[in-house]
Amino acid sequence: MGAALEGRSLLTLSDFSGLEIRSLLDLAARVKNQRRHGERHERFRGLTIALIFEKRSTRTRCAFETAFGEEGGYPVFLSPADIHLGVKESVEDTARVLGRMFDCIQFRGYAQETARILAGYSGVPVYNGLTDDFHPTQALADILTLEEAFGDSRGRTLCYVGDGRNNVANSLLIICGKLGVNITIVSPPELAPAGAMVSLARSFAEESGAGIEITSDIDAGVRGADCLYTDVWVSMGEEDKLKERMELLTPYRVDGRLMEKTQNPECRFMHCLPAVKGNEVTAEVIEGPMSMVWDEAENRKHTIKALMLATLGLV
Ligand code: CP
Ligand code: NVA
Repeated sequence: MGAALEGRSLLTLSDFSGLEIRSLLDLAARVKNQRRHGERHERFRGLTIALIFEKRSTRTRCAFETAFGEEGGYPVFLSPADIHLGVKESVEDTARVLGRMFDCIQFRGYAQETARILAGYSGVPVYNGLTDDFHPTQALADILTLEEAFGDSRGRTLCYVGDGRNNVANSLLIICGKLGVNITIVSPPELAPAGAMVSLARSFAEESGAGIEITSDIDAGVRGADCLYTDVWVSMGEEDKLKERMELLTPYRVDGRLMEKTQNPECRFMHCLPAVKGNEVTAEVIEGPMSMVWDEAENRKHTIKALMLATLGLV
């Protein structure tokens, strides 16, 4: 696997085959187990990563910093207040300079195009730590979490309720399509996934056998789900849309009644976090016994470590 993924960037999971994603998840489970058993490694010793953050982050930043740093690597955090990224210097030029100094780059920001340029011009692996369009490392952690709960994720049904056209929903559509996990997106029509995104997921599903459903019918959409998943009603950069989103999405709040509507007493709850309790999910559900959100958050670290190990050719 090392050879297949060495040198690769992760800009969107569309670029990875189902088998490649599978190998990353298996490696993530292994590195998690190593950590649990107190094994200490120095696989990133002598290596450096640039962590570029145009947007805020708790989990992604801490996952990259701790995963890389605890194994001897040197992470450098760079915010737009620190570097010239598209201001005074083109992104292409910044990418070429960073590529001369760092072994890999993480980018969290607005435009997917910026991540693409960084990868194209730096010559080192670039990891998308969230853009307006995608959140691929989140989706990896989400499937690892599902698999810890259910064993095999294939044939299970993840039901995402809420803003169906955001970065998290897009990456879930892709990973579920690639891996044969059924996914239903339940959202108001105004916030349904883009047609092109649904077509892409369906094209992957032709091979994997995943069911891809898009609906605004809440009761029918959640019925039979193994897991309800939601995300914030306004993503970073869309803060001015809160009022209209509250109106559109209040019926889609995940509360105890919605969990019951799945008619599956074993139905789990997932959220990428950060959560606005009382908006997209009630405190009762997120703090309740079916919530897996803290495992999901921890798994960001293990999946990100696996991604870095594989793409840096260290496994
Ligand atoms: N889930 C996630 O990406 O969280 P952060 O915004 O805290 O990184
Ligand atoms: N959709 C959210 C995810 C945060 C991890 C956002 O982009 O703000």
